[in-house]
Amino acid sequence: MTATMPSDAAAGTYPHTMRLQRFLARAGVASRRGSEALMTAGRVTVNGEVACELGTKVDVDRDVVEVDGQRVKLDGGAVYLMLNKPAGHLTTMSDPQGRPCVATLVPTAAHPGLFPVGRLDLDTTGLLLFTTDGDLGQALLHPSHHVEKVYIARVDGRVADRELDPLRAGIMLDDGPCQPAPCRVLRRAGSTSVVEIHLREGRKNQVKRMLGAVGHPVLALHRPRFGPLGLEGLAEGGWRYLTDAEVRALRRAAGFGEEPATAS
Ligand code: URA
Repeated sequence: MTATMPSDAAAGTYPHTMRLQRFLARAGVASRRGSEALMTAGRVTVNGEVACELGTKVDVDRDVVEVDGQRVKLDGGAVYLMLNKPAGHLTTMSDPQGRPCVATLVPTAAHPGLFPVGRLDLDTTGLLLFTTDGDLGQALLHPSHHVEKVYIARVDGRVADRELDPLRAGIMLDDGPCQPAPCRVLRRAGSTSVVEIHLREGRKNQVKRMLGAVGHPVLALHRPRFGPLGLEGLAEGGWRYLTDAEVRALRRAAGFGEEPATAS
């Protein structure tokens, strides 16, 4: 799994791993010396294990640190990460029926307020953005500046380029007209084709319904890009934090200014 530091860590506020007594001091639990005393008294646990060794190091993003059973966290500001969603996972943070959901694939214990920005169908793979930044998440989905998303669909049938013209013009679906969608045939193989389509909307099953409406039902769907973000190098099922530059680009795409993200 690739995981770079969250934006504030990348900016130098704190490193990815640090000594436990420093972590406790940074979190405001006690002074460095006082934190060492808490550790040697056996009052500090890391991932449920008592940590009395003064050399203990913690991963600030992944390890669960508790003092007297109370969770201690660094106020690291808002968190932004991308998941390369595999098929077979619902885009939800919990499922009452216990089906696999994306929450199990991202670090929800370290970042309890994490939520997905938009959704991908159960069988759709690709880039799903998560954040704890409610303002940015909402803005990215708002119709006034819905960011462009790129989808690659394997469809039934050999698609002639002109068959995509209704999608380019803006096709009518049962819940209203779609915006014109740039699209092209990438390749044809046997009785199937691969089509790339760019959307600035996010209606339910939209790509499947659009391609179905021109006579080419979708067999598999993947999203390689979400606004300025791409999945390059991220394995299916893996996640990574966004870089500062990516967060800035997202903020621009959502119509926000350049100021740094607010703490969640
Ligand atoms: N359009 C769809 O039909 N499904 C998705 O998962 C995303 C876009």
